[in-house]
Amino acid sequence: MSRAYKVAVVGATGAVGRQMVACLEERQFPVAELKPLASDRSLGKSVTFKGREIPVEVLTKEAFAGVEIALFSAGGSISKEYGPIAAQAGAVVVDNSSAWRMEPDVPLVVPEVNPQDIALYKNRGIIANPNCSTIQMVVALKPLHDAARIKRVVVSTYQAVSGTGQKAVEELAAQVRALLSSQEVVKKVYPHRIAFNVLPHIDVFLDNGYTKEEMKMVLETKKILGDDSIEVTATAVRVPVFYGHAESVNIETERKLTPEAARELLSKAPGVKVVDNPAKFEYPMPLDAAGQDLTLVGRIREDFSIAHGLNFWVVADNLRKGAATNTVQIAEILIKDYLR
Ligand code: A2P
Repeated sequence: MSRAYKVAVVGATGAVGRQMVACLEERQFPVAELKPLASDRSLGKSVTFKGREIPVEVLTKEAFAGVEIALFSAGGSISKEYGPIAAQAGAVVVDNSSAWRMEPDVPLVVPEVNPQDIALYKNRGIIANPNCSTIQMVVALKPLHDAARIKRVVVSTYQAVSGTGQKAVEELAAQVRALLSSQEVVKKVYPHRIAFNVLPHIDVFLDNGYTKEEMKMVLETKKILGDDSIEVTATAVRVPVFYGHAESVNIETERKLTPEAARELLSKAPGVKVVDNPAKFEYPMPLDAAGQDLTLVGRIREDFSIAHGLNFWVVADNLRKGAATNTVQIAEILIKDYLR
């Protein structure tokens, strides 16, 4: 790599932002200067990058001067407001929020699935990073779709609290401590206790009875796979797990795909690791997925209730492949093929 880049991380103190900084370091992204940005609540804080403490700066309209790549993960309203400002200042924005994902002229990219769409960043200077649950699902769907054309997907998610942000991680830990020591349980982030509970509710409820998270999975899957004919229906569920989202996925394909053929395709697919040996109790779990970048797929078996159906189980680290790693992978392609 011939040169290094000035990179801003917006939301650098958050659950995903911290992971973005860590991913830049781990993957040896060529950073000439790192600019961690957050709200004025973070004044005085710093982030550690390559052994150095870098002070967090307050996000302002002027903060993007000279920035070439801006990774955003500070929520949708910040992305809506500051994304275009960063792009106007000359940065390419890779945005982890849902603010830009469904804009027709903004690419929505998972590098293992549709890296070619990155070229469309030139339209608005913005590339959208998909929803965490969508990313890990399409990484697994892509090789099966190419081989047998997926007609329909039925997915139920089991999503970790870190997807909500750092405050939710702290809330689950505090509730567990409180319950085990007979203290009063405090709930602020979720409308119900999350410790030792399961909430069929992620993001806001919409008029159609689905949550926004569920509709993200429906719409983003079609856009990333570039195929509006794929029917998707989703139920998104929050579980008391800190890191790692799991998904039960059922697909119906046009052509017959045996579990053996699916296992073979998935074992060769980029970014996928097949963990599927029930005889030895080997299957994907959040505990194994957390802290690494592969999408784990297992429990691959035929759906005997239809002619061409498969069931499988998909697990990935929601903060890494579901967010930070995917963002940094996009930035890597950007500098390799476009910015130089
Ligand atoms: P801060 O820590 O200063 O509030 P999480 O998803 O873990 O909740 O993190 C959200 C991230 O977005 C944090 O880094 C947070 O910074 C940042 N953020 C939230 N609101 C703003 C804002 N108004 N301006 C800049 N950064 C913000």
